[in-house]
Amino acid sequence: MNILITGGTGGLGEAIVDVFATDSRNKIYFTYCHAETKARTITGRYANARGIRCDFENRAGMEALLAEIDNMDLDVLVNNAWVGKPDTIRFGQLTSEQIKTTFCTNVLPLVAVTQQALKTFRKKKSGKIITILTAALLGTPTIGYALYSSTKAYIAQLAKTWSTEYARYGITSNCVSPEFMRTDFTASTDERVIEQMEQTHPLKRLLEPQEVAQVVQFLAISSAQVNGVNIPVTAGTRI
Ligand SMILES: NC(=O)c1ccc[n+]([C@@H]2O[C@H](COP(=O)([O-])OP(=O)(O)OC[C@H]3O[C@@H](n4cnc5c(N)ncnc54)[C@H](OP(=O)(O)O)[C@@H]3O)[C@@H](O)[C@H]2O)c1
Repeated sequence: MNILITGGTGGLGEAIVDVFATDSRNKIYFTYCHAETKARTITGRYANARGIRCDFENRAGMEALLAEIDNMDLDVLVNNAWVGKPDTIRFGQLTSEQIKTTFCTNVLPLVAVTQQALKTFRKKKSGKIITILTAALLGTPTIGYALYSSTKAYIAQLAKTWSTEYARYGITSNCVSPEFMRTDFTASTDERVIEQMEQTHPLKRLLEPQEVAQVVQFLAISSAQVNGVNIPVTAGTRI
């Protein structure tokens, strides 16, 4: 399979690259932004992986990526990258500038990449779109995450529309909603909060990115009958 993973240098992204790249029949393309050294380490590890530098905040850089997608003959797209950190901001303090920036850096690039991949998928009459959401969308909303979770909710609804609009072309769109994982994304989380999460976790340990990567892999090899689902990876919480 030819697979594009956005944000392949991140905690979850690298785990997703790993599960696919260990099969040498797969050709892996992954995007990165700041983590040049990590990208080189990954491509050093796998002869079948190629890193593409792309800043989702830079329209010109995006155009170069979009042009490359046409030549990847993609079978699978994993929408994983996230620009910025999920800073806690109370709804009352949110500014329209923050909302616009988050939308422009996290929704519009994902839309552009997906539209481009769909051109190949439609020609091939097959293709898998797998989008990483968040467990913050499930159950009671976590206080302070209005911007992050509502942006993910917008993406979740887009992903649902892809599953119905493109089903007749053999294309599927599925999502994965993971709980908290230790990655750069969550690096600023207070250790006491993490300890409490571990203590109250049903398995007494936090979710590992590799466990989510296995779910992504499952969706990539599933039949087109598996379409429009959002798999929570939450150890039975938030259900
Ligand atoms: N960690 C969690 O607890 C958790 C829980 C649920 C869902 N998620 C979701 O899982 C996905 C991956 O998260 P993660 O924890 O692996 O985050 P991460 O370690 O912070 O990785 C983020 C990825 O996005 C890329 N990125 C950052 N800024 C970018 C930019 N301006 N342009 C293009 N790419 C950029 C990063 O590339 P560089 O490193 O090269 O800059 C990196 O590959 C996200 O969609 C996140 O919302 C995470």
